[in-house]
Amino acid sequence: MTYGEAKKMLSAAGQEHLLKYYDELSEEKQQNLLEQIEKLDLSFLQLIGDKKEKTAKGRLEPLGAVTIGEIEEKKDSYEKTGLKAVREGKVGAVLLAGGQGTRLGLDKPKGMLNVGVTKELYLFEQLINNLKQVVEKAGAWIPLFIMTSEKNNADTTEFFAAHDYFGYDREFVFFFIQEMAPSVSYEGKIYMEEKDKIAASPNGNGGWFSSMAKAGLLDKGKELGVEWLNVFAVDNVLQKMADPVFVGATIDSGCVCGAKVVAKADPNERVGVLCKEDGKPSIVEYYEMTEEIIHSKDENGKLLYNYGVILNYLFEVDTLVKIMNQNMPVHIVEKKIPYLDENARLVKPEEPNGYKFETLILDMIHMVDNCLSFEVEREKEFAPIKNRTGVDSLDSARELMKKNHIEL
Ligand code: UTP
Repeated sequence: MTYGEAKKMLSAAGQEHLLKYYDELSEEKQQNLLEQIEKLDLSFLQLIGDKKEKTAKGRLEPLGAVTIGEIEEKKDSYEKTGLKAVREGKVGAVLLAGGQGTRLGLDKPKGMLNVGVTKELYLFEQLINNLKQVVEKAGAWIPLFIMTSEKNNADTTEFFAAHDYFGYDREFVFFFIQEMAPSVSYEGKIYMEEKDKIAASPNGNGGWFSSMAKAGLLDKGKELGVEWLNVFAVDNVLQKMADPVFVGATIDSGCVCGAKVVAKADPNERVGVLCKEDGKPSIVEYYEMTEEIIHSKDENGKLLYNYGVILNYLFEVDTLVKIMNQNMPVHIVEKKIPYLDENARLVKPEEPNGYKFETLILDMIHMVDNCLSFEVEREKEFAPIKNRTGVDSLDSARELMKKNHIEL
């Protein structure tokens, strides 16, 4: 893109200020800036006007779940199906590690967090240990795709290399980088981070499959025979990946997707609930539900909307390919965005000062025709590290790890 083209594109969108320092820059930096401008997706900006998000949902119905008791009864047969699929190379794992972990406030990738007490035990390491249990049981390596962002890719890949992939076969580990979206002020002006750098942040975890495709990894998956992808978050230390029982139950159910869920701790727990919306599976946030729906019960007194998701989904690859190009809802999130002030000084705000744009993996569930809701025990499979202290923190995760006899 030339300077003239950039100027035209930006002035049409009221974003000419991005070229304010252009003349001061070296030729290399000028080129660098033009490349960023060329890649900018300005369509996001139109969304700011409709920020008062459409919270109106369609017609909600409960989806229920295959319960822990029901799973226990059929465990052997599910496990057999699941292990066979893993052994045949049909199951891949996708680790979402492109987030910035702003609540935790680390200056490095969340997976580099040491969760050990008397020894070093990194979050990435614990996840690999969990996955290796299935590898050992199946006697086959599971392809592991790891999504990073431009912000943390170098740190992440170097960390894995420095720790020899925590004993995982590096031939089966594939990194890919997600896309970025511009960060804007409340007035919709894109912030600058440096004179030649536009402020941008990872575009949410919803684009993982298309980013994987852009990185050429669908071909890799095909070559390896992968038919199912198990996607999970980086911050749940008890996360079970490629869990053969879950894989087997989803395959046997004939569904194109499965989601691990936990029974809500109380009706008002702030989790996304897996239910049906207009006849299709959907994850509905607590703030999108009426009090009546939140508290509705069946004839046995059990909550009808009782199952919260834990960001562990299994998707059939053919289905993902079909929905890949559909538009996803874009969520506008308030955020603290470091920016250059009018004197070109970098300001790191203490309070949110603008928006970032994200698509979310949970919206993919509404794009598929059916989804097996698969209940797991919270205390055994859900120990997310989101906050510095209190609920869902390193302390609470350590407690749960101890309960699960993980040596810390
Ligand atoms: P969260 O929604 O908890 O976001 O991510 P986060 O960025 O880790 O943390 P906060 O909200 O800033 O404190 C859930 C999962 O999705 C991944 C995260 O790495 C985590 O595994 N994620 C999130 C991405 O891979 N990319 C993103 O752009 C956002």
